[in-house]
Amino acid sequence: MSNFLIYGANGYTGELITRFAAERGLKPILAGRNAAKVEALAGQYGFEFRVFDLSETAGLYAALQEVEFVLHCAGPFSLTSEVMVEACIRSKRHYLDITGEIAVFEAMAARDKMATEAGVMVMPGVGFDVVPSDCLARHLKNRLPGATNLTLAFYGLGRISHGTQATMTMNVGRGGAIRKNGEITSVPAAWKTREIDFGEVKKLGVTIPWGDVSTAFYSTGIPNIEVYTIVPEQQLKLLKLSRYLGWLLATKPVQRILQKQIPAGGPSDEEREKGKTYLWGEASDEAGNKVEARQQGAEGYTLTALTALNIAEKVLAGNFCAGFQTPAKCYGADLILEIEGVAREDV
Ligand SMILES: NC(=O)c1ccc[n+]([C@@H]2O[C@H](COP(=O)([O-])OP(=O)(O)OC[C@H]3O[C@@H](n4cnc5c(N)ncnc54)[C@H](OP(=O)(O)O)[C@@H]3O)[C@@H](O)[C@H]2O)c1
Repeated sequence: MSNFLIYGANGYTGELITRFAAERGLKPILAGRNAAKVEALAGQYGFEFRVFDLSETAGLYAALQEVEFVLHCAGPFSLTSEVMVEACIRSKRHYLDITGEIAVFEAMAARDKMATEAGVMVMPGVGFDVVPSDCLARHLKNRLPGATNLTLAFYGLGRISHGTQATMTMNVGRGGAIRKNGEITSVPAAWKTREIDFGEVKKLGVTIPWGDVSTAFYSTGIPNIEVYTIVPEQQLKLLKLSRYLGWLLATKPVQRILQKQIPAGGPSDEEREKGKTYLWGEASDEAGNKVEARQQGAEGYTLTALTALNIAEKVLAGNFCAGFQTPAKCYGADLILEIEGVAREDV
């Protein structure tokens, strides 16, 4: 039977994906650079493991020979994805990751031709960012094929993990981003706010540079995209302040201090079980037509593990699309409805 590699398996999300994989009867090969942690995790589930740093080319290429594809879980991906995707394409292996970083999505999109020629799929963003929102975007596009504007919003109840916080901290000071006339365009941090009606709750949303600014364009062709999320009032003030202090927060000494303070781990099982995610989206066209939809699902990390493994199982079964792909572009808007606990309604 074909198999896959989970690289960064000992991280918070990698471990969760490993645990869920075991529960589904999958037997991935675990990998990472920390021998003691990777070995201990593999021992817990009776899985095989490989230990190599991403700079150890021989170890990386040897591990790729043993599998059909990689599910890359070691982030921040702006620091780890280039080496891995390059090795995958050269080895004619598929590449999946759980990034949410716009720059990483764009770098992957630029590898479309290489991946297509190699006959492999490069699909970044198989987690909460971007599977649920990508499917919602594609659903709205299906309902309004001539849409020119797309607004998406999400609200996650729950704590964030070490890696998510590390990635966010690394990107602080880079401001916001939207897509305008097909181009990714920089805007100030917390550029716009608007009230979002998630159905069960109404909240004040603020624009953020979420992955869909990149991916929803490839999934829908809609040229104008904004993504909103909900942040506590205090954090909104800090975001606005980062417009002026961002340069300072981005300097190496300050980054070192900030990164050291981030606690390891992520939400406990209990917290994940209590958590929930809400999404809302709207597409409109130049004639003033508008469609709206909402979606609800499990907590963000639970959803990440479920969507990543759902896609991994498809690839294992030979169901993939060659080239750079987004989840909804390859598998359609209803991919998300295959995930337990997800519900979508048109407004
Ligand atoms: N798309 C989504 O919805 C979603 C959901 C969850 C997480 N994420 C992203 O996934 C990433 C991981 O998050 P997490 O909370 O699981 O992180 P974490 O607990 O900090 O774990 C990170 C993992 O990556 C490994 N790693 C980091 N830098 C590496 C490098 N340069 N070379 C090799 N391995 C490296 C770490 O290895 P060591 O233990 O050896 O340091 C560890 O295994 C983050 O970028 C986060 O933003 C995205």
